Amino acid sequence: MKILIIGVNGFIGNALTEKILKTTDWEVYGMDLSDSKLEHSINDPRFHFLEGDVAINKEWIEYHVKKCDVVLPLVAIATPISYVKEPLRVFELDFEENLKIVRACVRYGKRVIFPSTSEVYGMCKDKEFDEDTSPLVYGAISMQRWIYACSKQLMDRVIWAYGVQKNLHFTLIRPFNWIGPKLDSLTTPKEGSSRVITQFISNLVNGKPIQLVNGGHQKRAFTYLDDGIDCLMKIIKNDKNICDKQIFNIGNPHNECSIRDLAKKLCALYAKHPLRVGKNIPSIQTVNEKSYYGKGYEDISYRMPSIKKAKSLLVWSPKVDLDTSLKKTLDYFLKEYHSSK
Ligand code: UGA
Repeated sequence: MKILIIGVNGFIGNALTEKILKTTDWEVYGMDLSDSKLEHSINDPRFHFLEGDVAINKEWIEYHVKKCDVVLPLVAIATPISYVKEPLRVFELDFEENLKIVRACVRYGKRVIFPSTSEVYGMCKDKEFDEDTSPLVYGAISMQRWIYACSKQLMDRVIWAYGVQKNLHFTLIRPFNWIGPKLDSLTTPKEGSSRVITQFISNLVNGKPIQLVNGGHQKRAFTYLDDGIDCLMKIIKNDKNICDKQIFNIGNPHNECSIRDLAKKLCALYAKHPLRVGKNIPSIQTVNEKSYYGKGYEDISYRMPSIKKAKSLLVWSPKVDLDTSLKKTLDYFLKEYHSSK
């Protein structure tokens, strides 16, 4: 099988490529702005990489959609501060550029696996979010945070409609706060430009206070990368076409944790870590959402996936508990920090 991954150097793309090359005989064609996270795959003869930009290398994309069997357009801006500060860039990349790729899949009759997001549920009041029944709930237009969820939601709806009207073969995946090695970067300069776990680890190694937005009572269910990738592999394999025209939440309901508890757990793990930097453990402070993210930010107080569908159709369930997920992620970043010094 030939797999096209656009955004192959990203958090999901690089890990998926490594898994494919290690466990299958498939070929991977990948494009990204850089190959910085692909050291494990770059020399593999079954990996074909182009350093390129989704907005520029359109002929390459078109040619490879035609050539490949399955397409994963993974390019997206996915950090909340960007939704507030650069909403148009989010729309242009996450919606407009991805729509062009999806349309190429329609033209050439190719299967597309599209990354929707846990964010599409927004401020849904269901106890757990169900792919096929939960409403998708957003705030006012001035709350620019929702442009990401809204762009992704519209992609979901367009893809769904192509499935109905043009028989596009698709699967929508909704990762719920996946964490692990290579999520963002410790050197990302600005507060809020990384997802919460990388931000907190960066604060720890740089000796800066950890900031809990609005007190950190909001909750997320964190999913370890390896579990997510295992699920995604089953979706790509698509035995008996079971994933066709389906939406799957890929999350770990057992790993629900408040952001405050996440900070405490990370501080405790860091305090006894052999690779800890410096003597002091930074303090934990509370900040207001407006001062942290600026105007236009609105938060989600909990985000709990229902994974009934992935369990029954894919015979998949996540295995890595929260403490192990945090430890593995911290180990990776501390090793990386020391090796870069
Ligand atoms: C994320 C991002 O939108 C996407 O990466 C993705 O689609 C989705 O959710 C997902 O990973 O499933 P969110 O969970 O809000 O959204 O992103 P984080 O930046 O990781 O923040 C989590 C929580 O921690 C938020 O409530 C945020 O306010 C809080 N936070 C973040 C802090 O309290 N302090 C910080 O320094 C950073």
